[in-house]
Amino acid sequence: MEEYKKKKILCVGLVCLDIINVVEKYPEEDTDSRCVSQRWQRGGNASNSCTVLSLLGAPCAFMGSLSSGYVADFILEDFQKFHIDVSLVSDHAQCELPASVVISNVSSGSRTILHMNRNLPDVTAEDFSKVDLHQFKWIHWEGRNAEQQVQMIQQVEVFNSSLPPQERITLSVEIEKTREPLYQLFPHGDLVFVSKDVAHHFGFQSAGAALKGLYSRVKQGAVLVCAWAELGAGALGPDGVLLHSDAFPPETVVDTLGAGDTFNSAVIYTLSNGGSVQDALTFGCRVAGRKCGFHGYDGIAEMCAL
Ligand code: ADP
Ligand code: FRU
Repeated sequence: MEEYKKKKILCVGLVCLDIINVVEKYPEEDTDSRCVSQRWQRGGNASNSCTVLSLLGAPCAFMGSLSSGYVADFILEDFQKFHIDVSLVSDHAQCELPASVVISNVSSGSRTILHMNRNLPDVTAEDFSKVDLHQFKWIHWEGRNAEQQVQMIQQVEVFNSSLPPQERITLSVEIEKTREPLYQLFPHGDLVFVSKDVAHHFGFQSAGAALKGLYSRVKQGAVLVCAWAELGAGALGPDGVLLHSDAFPPETVVDTLGAGDTFNSAVIYTLSNGGSVQDALTFGCRVAGRKCGFHGYDGIAEMCAL
């Protein structure tokens, strides 16, 4: 049991550069205005989730692609600063690192993202087949190249089938973007995160409606989770009981960039430590709410130091 506890959580997905422009007022088109501040930050859902897991005290690893050059060096240094294992990062020296230009409005906390990935490929099922799975207790996939990701998940299922239930790797997937191929991930997670955007795409106007309407897509026994910004989050498991947590808004919402990634990590953190789904939802909203009150992840660092 002690050995199992020490195992890592692996997050598979994107790392990119976020160029964050903090403004007091969202700019008018075709104007020339000054920002309150500007900063570079390591971004990407899986990468952000690793940051939060690490701050919460969970040993974790990131698997994704990286280019070379000074932006990649900045990213690698930042991973190291947060003690995130990057031994599974694949190098693509000839490619350019994806980047997002983010307008972060302090007056509302809104984040407007313009993202570009020129040519950096996602990790493949073949890359994944070389991973020593013994080191992990949980693997989380940010839905991206879904066909390949389904094959990765199948590899873990084969691995799991040789182990007693308590030693198996738990699988989670995030379906955040409204892209048809991502929907094939629904039946492949023990835990499935579906976003408000995807819920809207399917015509649902609340987390509860989305959870009830989409639950038939997940595999038997799975838990479906749906976060709904300032309205908190809900979950539905095999017992059919709809769970909910209110949001925990900070005094002032200043930065919601990565709130969803933060929420996912805090949910995974709680469940991987044996907490209940209700505890996980509440902790997810608490940590994500805290994050929204600070720029970047400093608020979580402070919260964990308490
Ligand atoms: P994202 O848009 O980054 O994917 P979500 O909007 O799904 O994030 O929010 C994830 C969680 O973050 C919510 O469940 C909530 O707990 C918290 N959160 C997000 N926005 C706010 C807000 N404005 N006030 C309080 N909590 C928030
Ligand atoms: C936040 C985020 C940013 C990144 C963007 C990519 O959830 O991961 O860090 O720029 O989304 O879509």
